[in-house]
Amino acid sequence: MQTDLDDFIIKGKAIVEDEMINQFRNLEIPDQLKQSMLYSLKAGGKRLRPILMMASYDAFHRDINKVLSAAIALEMIHTYSLIHDDLPAMDDDDLRRGQPTNHKAFDEATAILAGDALLTYSFELIANDPQFTDRQKVYLTGMLAQASGPKGMVAGQILDMEAEQKKVTLEELETIHKLKTGELLRFAIRAGAYIGGASSEQLKHLDNYAYYLGLIFQVQDDILDITGDPEKLGKPVGSDLENDKNTYPKLLGLNGAIEKKQNYVNKAKVALENAGANTSYLTLLTDYFSNREF
Ligand code: IPE
Ligand code: IPE
Ligand code: MG
Ligand code: MG
Ligand code: MG
Repeated sequence: MQTDLDDFIIKGKAIVEDEMINQFRNLEIPDQLKQSMLYSLKAGGKRLRPILMMASYDAFHRDINKVLSAAIALEMIHTYSLIHDDLPAMDDDDLRRGQPTNHKAFDEATAILAGDALLTYSFELIANDPQFTDRQKVYLTGMLAQASGPKGMVAGQILDMEAEQKKVTLEELETIHKLKTGELLRFAIRAGAYIGGASSEQLKHLDNYAYYLGLIFQVQDDILDITGDPEKLGKPVGSDLENDKNTYPKLLGLNGAIEKKQNYVNKAKVALENAGANTSYLTLLTDYFSNREF
């Protein structure tokens, strides 16, 4: 049976994908760059970050189109992070979103540049959106830079890489995930709520929620690397074990990781209730993140 959340996800995904392609229609940029950027953007992906931003905005207002440019900007940054994450110098993966990774389909230099271009173009999108006031543009671009840069996702990526050579504690693992995955998810929640007009008190609770959601997302990512179906995932499994990655199952065992995830889900839901907004989609998305099979 198709649920209300399924409906929200299907609609959100379609709007985001249409608008993303639209952005490229009249863009005059070198063809190889355009093809390479579009290749990864179109390769599929769950669009979880845009959907989260829409759900977060929906906790305050209905019209999700208001957050569209910020949602696409975030998806572009996420896609750039994946292109670079798959490079031979990083995780060296051949498959992403069910297709050859960008550097396999094109070449390494093009993949690096496509990533650079997606990263920078995302800021241009927000800066050019006439729906935002100047104040909103400054807030959103500043926050996006922080979430994706050396205090955010990039910090998490280097800590993650360094941790390959050593054993880390649960706290260290949580810090890595908070940065590498959590910060972009936090931007999704925070931007949606901010554009929706959330109070600073509400933003604080939603930040707390986003922290646990990021951890839930990553525990499940780790679990799926063991128990997942590569067909459904669109990426190979067992890559963490192969790269001797620090993961929740490695630290806590598979059952311990599942228990930990439930613990995070409970904490996330408490934070969400404390926000005191119409967070019904966010509540449903919490379970969706926790139980996803791809
Ligand atoms: C994968 O993210 C990378 C991580 C941050 C663990 P997603 O699982 O959201 O990837 P797509 O966008 O659906 O491909
Ligand atoms: C990727 O984490 C996180 C970012 C790209 C920021 P992983 O390396 O665990 O993601 P997968 O498993 O390749 O999707
Ligand atoms: Mg990685
Ligand atoms: Mg990887
Ligand atoms: Mg992983």
